[in-house]
Amino acid sequence: MKNLKSTYLGISIKNPLVIGSSGLSSTVMGVKSLADAGAAAVVLKSIFEEEITAEAKATLQSQLGTDQNNMEFFDYYDYQVKSDVLDKYLTLITEAKAAVDIPIIASINCASYNEWVSYAKRIEKAGADGIELNIFKLPFDKASTAQELEDTYFTIVRKLREQVSIPVGIKMSSYFTNLGSVIHRLSNTGVNGLILFNRYTSLDFDIENDQVVSGHIYSDKNDYVLPMRWIAVASQGADCDLIASTGVHDYRTLVKMIMAGAASVQIVSAVYKEGPEVILWMLKELESWMEKRGFDSISDFKGKMSQGLADNPEVFERVQFMRYFSDHTTIK
Ligand SMILES: Cc1cc2nc3c(=O)[nH]c(=O)nc-3n(C[C@H](O)[C@H](O)[C@H](O)COP(=O)(O)O)c2cc1C
Repeated sequence: MKNLKSTYLGISIKNPLVIGSSGLSSTVMGVKSLADAGAAAVVLKSIFEEEITAEAKATLQSQLGTDQNNMEFFDYYDYQVKSDVLDKYLTLITEAKAAVDIPIIASINCASYNEWVSYAKRIEKAGADGIELNIFKLPFDKASTAQELEDTYFTIVRKLREQVSIPVGIKMSSYFTNLGSVIHRLSNTGVNGLILFNRYTSLDFDIENDQVVSGHIYSDKNDYVLPMRWIAVASQGADCDLIASTGVHDYRTLVKMIMAGAASVQIVSAVYKEGPEVILWMLKELESWMEKRGFDSISDFKGKMSQGLADNPEVFERVQFMRYFSDHTTIK
């Protein structure tokens, strides 16, 4: 038996496999089946700022029509609907906590700090072991600058830290002008973990019917290379756990992420595609690999392949194809 203990947002976990926020963790039954399959922690389906607002508006419109005289009522009613949505989420936290003995992390999807920060305290009281913030808005706003977008992240973290004392993680996007600097500075804000990276819904075109359709929902097994590179580059100087997300579909990628310096790894698409059994397979194969390599614990190889420990650190920064253009002269 190998020692697979690791951490997630600084919380001690029994192995490095955490289930990322998704429909898999939107019910107590879902959470229980993931825990039974060996998951070390579960991040609940996100509560969305937009979802709360949309539900409030839709309910209100169906009941009040377009009567503008009821605006005073709107404020009150809006608050009530928000509370209902939140109450359901709080119940999910409490019941999931009671059903399993692994850490349960709440997830909030937000783009500003106004809407939800006051809810965070109630999430903490409901028993969540940590809060993961999924902060993102596509930068469509031509009037705002890259600096303003970055500042939003730091403001949100500061405001949340004033509200709660449980561990906080940020699930980041890779869309930053100076990503290395943002990772480094966010890791110094008092957050307990950065999750690299979030994966977003994409859109595609149906060229027979001229329709916009949704793109691939699940990640591909080769998508891991982006988070792996950034974890390898950032892990030495980071002041909190770095957690890998996107493209972890088998034990090899799990190992690579830890070797890059990840404290733990989130999986979602692999579970959707293979079922919860994939958790146990990956853990078994991880143990066999550790046995073969002579490692007894995760810390024996965590960060082994990070840029900070590399003999040739410049290779991590090479991105252009120059050499390949000169070597690869034939077409297969
Ligand atoms: C069906 C589905 C639902 C998701 N819902 C959420 C969500 O509510 N909140 C969130 O932060 N991420 C959500 N995600 C993103 C995942 O948590 C994860 O970051 C992403 O799928 C990349 O990991 P993977 O390659 O293991 O799938 C969802 C992903 C999928 C496939």
